[in-house]
Amino acid sequence: MDLVEVHFAESGKTVFVQPGTTLLAAAGLAGVEVLTGCTRGMCGTDAMRVTCSRPDAMVAAVDPERPTLDRMGLGEGCRLLCSARVQCGRVEVRGDALVD
Ligand code: FES
Repeated sequence: MDLVEVHFAESGKTVFVQPGTTLLAAAGLAGVEVLTGCTRGMCGTDAMRVTCSRPDAMVAAVDPERPTLDRMGLGEGCRLLCSARVQCGRVEVRGDALVD
């Protein structure tokens, strides 16, 4: 099974992780600090913008992540790092989800 490349734009750090790994775990492996709260997809503290190299690079957001993103008014390009799981390809994470 191919590893997934996860790049954290602000820090410039990149890690390669197993499919199914959360972006929060990838951040930990990369040594990137992320402000977290509930770690269960409910508070939205760790919302960030995610750009994928292919449509299936991430597992689709489901409950409770999707309703939390909707409640926060964040679009399809945003994910909660504690809940979002990578699947394949390359994913870039930017910490600007709440700035737009
Ligand atoms: S830490 Fe609360 S939603 Fe991720």
